Amino acid sequence: MIGGRRVLLAVTGGVAAFKAATLARLLIERDAQVRAMMTVPARKFLGSNTLAAITGHPVIVDLFNDAESVSPHTEAAEWADLVVVAPATAASVARLAQGLSSDPVTATIMAATCPVVVAPAMHTAMWKHPATQRNLDTLRSDGVAVLGPIVGRLAGGDRGPGRMMEPEELLEGIQALFAAPLRGVRVLVTAGGTREAIDPVRFLSNHSSGKMGHAVAAEAARRGAETTLVTCSPLPSPPAVKRVDVVSAHDMAEAVSSIEVDVAVMTAAVADFRPQKSHGSKLARSEGFNVLELAPTRDVLGEVVGRKTRPRVVVGFAAETGNVERAIGKARKKGVDLMVANDVTIPGSGFESDNNQVVLIRRNGEAEPWPLQAKSRVAAGLWDEVTRLLEEG
Ligand code: CTP
Repeated sequence: MIGGRRVLLAVTGGVAAFKAATLARLLIERDAQVRAMMTVPARKFLGSNTLAAITGHPVIVDLFNDAESVSPHTEAAEWADLVVVAPATAASVARLAQGLSSDPVTATIMAATCPVVVAPAMHTAMWKHPATQRNLDTLRSDGVAVLGPIVGRLAGGDRGPGRMMEPEELLEGIQALFAAPLRGVRVLVTAGGTREAIDPVRFLSNHSSGKMGHAVAAEAARRGAETTLVTCSPLPSPPAVKRVDVVSAHDMAEAVSSIEVDVAVMTAAVADFRPQKSHGSKLARSEGFNVLELAPTRDVLGEVVGRKTRPRVVVGFAAETGNVERAIGKARKKGVDLMVANDVTIPGSGFESDNNQVVLIRRNGEAEPWPLQAKSRVAAGLWDEVTRLLEEG
């Protein structure tokens, strides 16, 4: 757990900086070793002496005039098991997303290989700004855990989302991170839309971007799972994930067939049909090809469910157009433990979007609608469910 772990508490310049002192104390009470670092604006809100007194160590405030070290950021980065940025202002989130190492906090994080947590704190308008959301998505896809913010009273006296999580909640989030509940669990995730070649130029495919599958794989790895991602998507690899690139349903089935796992999450939009014949050279319009003979593809999920060594938990995804109820029958027919159904006709959800509105269907046919939320959050909720199923045995 958190006892004995080395936590670097990085404070940036927002009113919520005062809560960092409580967080430092809570971490120390749980026997974590805590050191602190602050940006210049942070010191307008909280004295560095306060954090020095609580942690029992000098606080890093300056990369160039540090009496103790010539390279405080690389030393701190090497020392830390975890960096927690609390509060993380809109500006520090932006700098981090851009890799601008212009202050002690971002310089240290760029030099660090350990996990990083950010706890955003800012006014609602700044929180909602597309630039902030874009920057946070970048951080999430870089493997940074974003905790909060919560809805509550803000520095200006008004209320809304943007308030930093309370120190007690942050502590819980940090503890969960160290707990790595999926350590030792082998996970397979399929992602993206397969491409079935007609000829060297043309193919049959669908609108799947792979964002959902890559988010599922990222979250599994973040929770400590040994994760393999078999993907058709050009999206970057999430950190600590083994990646296998494939093109067609056949390639995907082949790649998956040799991977033994405890949990399989099949988010891929696998083409149901492929051209019966894939032509070796480009079909010319002048030849007037107008009938495409199709043949069924391999059922990747079916092959996984039908294995002698079936994974303990198999999750299917079902993209539907309007009739999500259909997915309940599909879950039963396919023999999955969980089915994640989404209506791809909902605006701002599903294919290519960063958000998804899904209905979770359990083994007993119970359907639980989830709100429209970031795909990373859907992934987190899904792994909570899978973890419960693994615990039930
Ligand atoms: N799937 C698969 N291999 C296929 C087709 C689907 O592994 N050849 C998986 C998908 O990854 C997904 C689940 O099966 O997890 C459901 O996919 P879907 O296309 O909704 O299922 P179908 O049986 O093709 O349903 P439909 O009748 O709607 O086409």
